[in-house]
Amino acid sequence: MTNASPVASAEGYFPLRLCRLRPGKPLFFDLYFEVPGLNGCDRHLVLSCRKGKIFQDKLLGSDEGRKSWAYFPSSEAAAVLRYFSDNVEEFLRKPSLLNCDKIAFLYDISLTWVENFFTAPASQAPDNIKFIITIIERILKYLLDEKNLAKLLCTVRRHDSHLYTHTINVFLISMAFSLFKGWSVEESRELGLACLLHDIGMTSLPHDITQKPERLTDIDRHYVKNHPGESKKLLAKIPLIPERVLAVVAQHHENYDGSGYPQGLAAEAIHPWARILRIIDSFESLTSIRPWRPPCNTSQALAVMKSTLKGKEVYDPVLLAEFIGFLQQG
Ligand SMILES: [Fe+2]
Ligand SMILES: [Fe+2]
Repeated sequence: MTNASPVASAEGYFPLRLCRLRPGKPLFFDLYFEVPGLNGCDRHLVLSCRKGKIFQDKLLGSDEGRKSWAYFPSSEAAAVLRYFSDNVEEFLRKPSLLNCDKIAFLYDISLTWVENFFTAPASQAPDNIKFIITIIERILKYLLDEKNLAKLLCTVRRHDSHLYTHTINVFLISMAFSLFKGWSVEESRELGLACLLHDIGMTSLPHDITQKPERLTDIDRHYVKNHPGESKKLLAKIPLIPERVLAVVAQHHENYDGSGYPQGLAAEAIHPWARILRIIDSFESLTSIRPWRPPCNTSQALAVMKSTLKGKEVYDPVLLAEFIGFLQQG
């Protein structure tokens, strides 16, 4: 299994690992492949299997040129999710499957869930919250069987600069860290929900800011500072979201020394889970590729975080030391 994402992403489409599809069964959504243009560059998408048609193994190509990725229209994320839900039990029962393969499949389901939940207001309903809670519980069950959680994260996580991938990576790292700290499944599950939803307010920002291929300007950053409040406002309308999740979401950019936003809260005034999320959010961003820089490796990212950015104490020092211990386990 590769955790590299496809060569390019296309506006209005999400990438999908082809190993998630079941040959011989009909698709619930249109499937596109990326193909080079006539001059070898200008890659574009072509419709390769229409919704309702049987997905055939031969579509994947020969051994050497076998395709790993396809795309589906972002407007069909709910249908992809339904397709996954229909197949999840059978997939997880496969005796040949390793624990990390099962977690990787649940990672892809969670990613599609976030893609759908963030982009389709109609999906922001209690039933969808119930659905993702069952997925979080299954992920926790498999994580509990893993000896080296930090190593597993490297195998499973995808690396790209999408908001949705960032969200799932933050979620998975937080789940592993909370189990490392010995939390109960109930607490981990609630932190997991906060992590999955923490950046939903980014969807309220102007499109040209969230899709910007270069570093943000000071004016952009002024807008971005609204996103924790926007996340809380959006989520507060949905029954079943616990108060604690709302608090963590609203405070995930507060800094330990009071230099964060939106409220400038400091130390113990910040919810302890928001202090964890602050650390993992930064770690994930630093170790992910950005259009203007390559990803840091773990030690580079920790060195940046330990230097506490321009002399400020951004992170809770006790939690940061615990997080470093977690990454260095095994
Ligand atoms: Fe954020
Ligand atoms: Fe974030």
